Amino acid sequence: MQTLLETADIDHLRAALTRAGFTASGIAARLGPQAAADAGRSDFRAALRITDSGDPLDTMIRLFICGQTEPESAVAAALAPLPVATARAAGLLVQGEGGLAAGVDLEPYGDWWVLSDLPAQPGRQLPADHVLGVGGASTTLAGATVRTPVGTALDLGTGCGVQALHLSTHARAVTATDLSPRALRFAATTAALNGLSWELLQGDMLAPVADRRFDLVVSNPPFVVGPGLATHVYRDSGRAGDGVCAELAGAAPTLLAEGGTLQFLANWVHVKGEDWEDRVAGWFAGTGMDLWAIQREVSDPLDYVRLWLADASEKHDAQRAAQWLDWFAAHGVEAIGFGLVTARNSGKTDPSVVCEDLRQQVQAPLGDRVAEWFTRRDWLDAHDREQLLAARYRRVDGLQLRQEATMGEDGWMVDRQLLAMPEGLRWVEEIDPLILALVSGSNGDLALRDQIALLATAHEAPTEALSEALLPVIDHLVERGLLLPTPL
Ligand SMILES: C[S@@+](CC[C@H](N)C(=O)[O-])C[C@H]1O[C@@H](n2cnc3c(N)ncnc32)[C@H](O)[C@@H]1O
Repeated sequence: MQTLLETADIDHLRAALTRAGFTASGIAARLGPQAAADAGRSDFRAALRITDSGDPLDTMIRLFICGQTEPESAVAAALAPLPVATARAAGLLVQGEGGLAAGVDLEPYGDWWVLSDLPAQPGRQLPADHVLGVGGASTTLAGATVRTPVGTALDLGTGCGVQALHLSTHARAVTATDLSPRALRFAATTAALNGLSWELLQGDMLAPVADRRFDLVVSNPPFVVGPGLATHVYRDSGRAGDGVCAELAGAAPTLLAEGGTLQFLANWVHVKGEDWEDRVAGWFAGTGMDLWAIQREVSDPLDYVRLWLADASEKHDAQRAAQWLDWFAAHGVEAIGFGLVTARNSGKTDPSVVCEDLRQQVQAPLGDRVAEWFTRRDWLDAHDREQLLAARYRRVDGLQLRQEATMGEDGWMVDRQLLAMPEGLRWVEEIDPLILALVSGSNGDLALRDQIALLATAHEAPTEALSEALLPVIDHLVERGLLLPTPL
């Protein structure tokens, strides 16, 4: 795959960046915490005051972070041994007033550098083939990816290559695809600059990897939902509604190796008269995949359209907004959900399918939480009723009991009792006194069967009936990680 620069020039660029200390830690040390935080919010005043020495690191910070035009002599000194003329010819630099400015975004990211198009600027509409840099969605997916070592991994819709960088840390072979040749040139340059080697393939969605299977597939696809108009390749798939995510889901059985995992960010429509959970589960109907889909946000159609028009700095176009909203109205779309979909090719005859709201703030990184969720779900699926009753359970560390009470004539009357996990996924579950007694007694000492027998005696209830009532609750609490079977 073609890179923006020749191999020798990429080596020169890497040498310049390394020598200058243009790394995440080097920049943080030069700017200090306050100026770095301000710069992160696009307030470059402090950063510009600090970086006026003209040394290579200062020049690179001013050029690539603060978006300044710098004197050609300073830029040449900072980029040496990469000739300025070569950098200009490759589009890395452009002529500014009285000097040179960055033509691309060159961003230290973790221990890597990432190349992409310059971010959106007020009043400058993004071109159709804009290549996105590392953004909120990129880091959401990167943080939610299960990072167990794998043989083969695919990043579908790689853009600047950010997910592929992360995959390189735990996959023996990384494949990255994109519809956009421009994106692939950026991804190829990102890979080469970081000394990595990926298989890069151009094409629409699954086409470049037809008949190939992977241990892990990640995708931050162009998931924006609407009439199917493709104005910007970074966000529009050209598929109507949430068709692109349904397509990705439907491909799971042919895309995943045995035991393989597919993780992608998605938007889905909330259609009048339909549960969103049924819609997302429906994408996977008949695939045989275990599924855990979590809805992290829900938007109202108007906010959604405004958000995405602003994202591409599209001028306020009342007609376009109206068409988009009319399409939503005509298709009964009442809201749009955003979330993370994780599917696994576990080969179970009766796969687990769970779609649920998880809108609370969770403890990062989510990837470990996703892996733990599947471990617990597997444990539950592998145990029959008798085995579940024979197992011992313990409360997760730090579990809290919260009570809501109203003052009555005889003192406080408890209205609601809630179990809350202060860590991890931070679930809060309303419970009744019986469940509270069960959870209180869950120290890992007694088998569930014996705990239920004690409760039955205390409440003068038949043990069998109590078991029937409590087993689904235990399943739910274990699935969510409030109760853990020992020794899990
Ligand atoms: C939201 S960006 C994600 C970029 C990057 N992976 C990340 O996580 O930030 C979506 C990417 O999908 C690519 N894309 C758009 N339509 C596609 C299609 N039909 N098939 C494959 N890739 C596509 C875009 O070019 C873009 O790079």
